Amino acid sequence: MHHFHYRDGVLHAEEVPLPAIAEAVGTPFYCYSAATLRHHFRVFREPFAHRDHLVAFSAKANSNLAVLHLLGREGSGLDIVSRGEMARGLAAGIPAERMVFSGVGKRRDELEAALDAGILAFNVESVGELELLDAVAGARGQRAPVSLRVNPDVDPLTHPYIATGLRATKFGVPIGEARDLYNRAAAMPGIEVVGVDCHIGSQLTSVAPFVEALQRLQALMSALAEDGHRIQHLDLGGGLGISYLDEAPPHPEDFGRAINDQLGDWAGKLIFEPGRVIAGNAGVFVSAVLYTKDQPEKRFAVVDGAMNDLMRPALYGAEQEIRPVREGGGETEAVDVVGPICESGDFLGKDRALPRLAQGDLLAVMSAGAYGATMASNYNTRPRAPEVLVSGDRFEVVRRRETVEELYAPESIPAGGWFEQM
Ligand code: LLP
Repeated sequence: MHHFHYRDGVLHAEEVPLPAIAEAVGTPFYCYSAATLRHHFRVFREPFAHRDHLVAFSAKANSNLAVLHLLGREGSGLDIVSRGEMARGLAAGIPAERMVFSGVGKRRDELEAALDAGILAFNVESVGELELLDAVAGARGQRAPVSLRVNPDVDPLTHPYIATGLRATKFGVPIGEARDLYNRAAAMPGIEVVGVDCHIGSQLTSVAPFVEALQRLQALMSALAEDGHRIQHLDLGGGLGISYLDEAPPHPEDFGRAINDQLGDWAGKLIFEPGRVIAGNAGVFVSAVLYTKDQPEKRFAVVDGAMNDLMRPALYGAEQEIRPVREGGGETEAVDVVGPICESGDFLGKDRALPRLAQGDLLAVMSAGAYGATMASNYNTRPRAPEVLVSGDRFEVVRRRETVEELYAPESIPAGGWFEQM
């Protein structure tokens, strides 16, 4: 469900026509719907309302301050993977006590910053990380709250680049080794064992892998209870998929029912780290047609948005729906929607049936609210696109477009005869 719809033939975000935003901020731009974000968050947490739970939105999906603030007001926590994401979360008003820190490569300074802030838990992914965290926390006279990220070796049946719960990936601690590692952790003075964590992959379109992972974690938790650990929370990660074109992922209600059935009357705190399912369909990416071009084999629409703005098609071959902002009547034709970047991989969509396009027409790539702006780069020295948040009939620029000068401001040319002495 989302709030992007046609009214009088023009695509609107809630009550705002997208051409009005294009007029105000130029193209390309990202546009998010506040009502959709709020709705998705509420729907996701609803099945767990009767439990002690925390929905920690995964910052990597969309870390715009306004988006994080909105979700924080709804009670969201934050799943972070860097010091930078933690800083964003704090700046957006999300309390550290609602943050969990995931990721295979946390640096010492990041562990320190998170201890300073007082986050809810470190999702520790290796022996090395556990030892470093013990040393860092111990030296400060602190005990770091820890969940081990367990790799349950479950096939999430998704794109290989975003599958993380298989034994062959770099993620987590193999489930067979977890019990031992929990015992080691419990003996460390700088560590307090608080939870069990897993995340098996992203864009999952069935509940079965989640349930299978949960079953394996439950078996582990029984073993941990026997060993005398007090596991206070269970973090099931993120990963619930969305519909980009014709995928049919489970509704969060069905996901919730399956998890609740499997958990039964377990009374601990349940944590989730959803990203895509909250933000994905709450955003669109809008670009304008610069040229149309008939090559011998194909018709192209060259737009002003590119792979640096929205990387998913180029990186994963991801297909996201592309809609004309002004609904064209009549015939459609197959067209490749491509950007200005000097690579054949620079496309937003291939062979899309669209009405005959002309210069200046606006196209909206749908489902761009997650892993869109956060994955943007400055390749080809292209300033990153602005982000706009809509609520009802109002819209606000929540990240302005970068200027070209800002892009090279951190660079410098060595002075003092440096080149002469080369
Ligand atoms: N928790 C952890 C530890 C994660 O690694 C991820 C995503 C999430 C939560 C959130 O997963 P979600 O609910 O959004 O599926 N750039 C890729 C997606 C990479 C996901 C990485 N981890 C894409 O555009 O499809």
